[in-house]
Amino acid sequence: MDLQITDWLSLTLRWAHIIAGVGWIGASFYFMALDFSLRHRSGLPHGVKGESWLVHGGGFYHVQKYMVAPEEMPKDLKWFQWESYATWLTGFALMSVVYYWQADIYLIDRSVLALSKLQAVGISVGVLVASWLIYDALCKSPLKENQTAMFAVLFVLIVGAAFGLGEIFSARAVFLHIGAMIGTIMTGNVFFVIIPNQKIVVADLKERKIPNPEFGKIAKLRSTHNNYLTLPVLFMMISNHYPMTFGHPMNWIVVALILPIGAVVRHYFNAHDSGVHGAGLRWQWPTASLLLLILMAFVAWRPAANETPAQAAATTNDQQVPDLNDQVFAIVQQRCGVCHSANPTDFVGAAPGGVEYDTLDLMKQHAPQMRVQAVISQAMPPGNLTEMTEEERTLLGAWIENEVGE
Ligand code: HEC
Repeated sequence: MDLQITDWLSLTLRWAHIIAGVGWIGASFYFMALDFSLRHRSGLPHGVKGESWLVHGGGFYHVQKYMVAPEEMPKDLKWFQWESYATWLTGFALMSVVYYWQADIYLIDRSVLALSKLQAVGISVGVLVASWLIYDALCKSPLKENQTAMFAVLFVLIVGAAFGLGEIFSARAVFLHIGAMIGTIMTGNVFFVIIPNQKIVVADLKERKIPNPEFGKIAKLRSTHNNYLTLPVLFMMISNHYPMTFGHPMNWIVVALILPIGAVVRHYFNAHDSGVHGAGLRWQWPTASLLLLILMAFVAWRPAANETPAQAAATTNDQQVPDLNDQVFAIVQQRCGVCHSANPTDFVGAAPGGVEYDTLDLMKQHAPQMRVQAVISQAMPPGNLTEMTEEERTLLGAWIENEVGE
């Protein structure tokens, strides 16, 4: 009996992580929309910045926002913090199961840097901690007065991190880390800044002191950062299923394009919610679409090494095909068979994704996926554990082109 413990842990944690994330991001979107929809009118109670009417679930809601707080502490107060903490905790647990526990497969790529498991995990945790410390220091520096400059600096730091991590980890782990770093910053904002400040305000209220409005302002700045970072984080988290993105030799450029695409789309919703009409709403989708097209074109274009399968195929004529079959079968058994087999010999409990290459027919059936994972990108073998060579990838590419065509 094989319990497949890591798979079950990873599945249940992923499930929990997505549920928590939906709760957090859902609440965050809702409150951003609410903030933008606040309108001022005369006759609002003292301290109310604006109010909003909402309709949902068979009734009308009438919400008023006090800035920074009402004069008296309300009897019942609902806090929104556990959505964020639960997202981070489940995310970190999932990362530990997949990337730390199975560091050999997912985190380390010996052709990039021959790290020990302990070193790799140490660097990974260090990177998460450092990203929070650096971000937090930036938010307290004079940069906080200039939103645009702050976003520009964050952009450069994130893209720089993608480049730097590319020299340390497997490509797949680079994207996951960019997502985890931004996610850590977002939860850090909630845990270290927004909620503690809110608690000070509540304590002041209880003592009937007037709270310092600065706390409200700081919290708002941080939650605006969180707002614009949400969509890029989600991309980084799901990109792991798409080797064309993280597996690109210059994957940091993919990150550089995803950041503005996510932010611009988010901006559309913010503008829409704050009541902007006409021209103010017309530029975001075209800009995001254009950037996405640029991204697609960039991913389709690849530096020289990846042209070779096509060239090799051009020189392969039909008489060579049987020979090529044998060669490629041997390569795949050696480089992929330890994991992708009905009886995997190492590393995994069962063939990942149900992909088995035990016969030539099975290989043919999965040929297009093979091209994506092992020829166009080098996502497989993970971390090049089985030390597949460039020539072998070229041959595999040529064989796939013979089998399925372009
Ligand atoms: C050390 C074990 C290992 C080796 C060797 C390996 N793979 Fe994988 N493969 C995995 C794992 C683990 C996954 C699941 C990755 C994920 O969760 O996204 C995977 C996923 C895949 C997938 C995607 C399956 C899906 O879910 O759609 C393909 C295709 C693939 N591998 C092809 C290959 C090819 C081709 C080779 C040989 C060149 C290879 N793999 C070598 C472990 C391995």
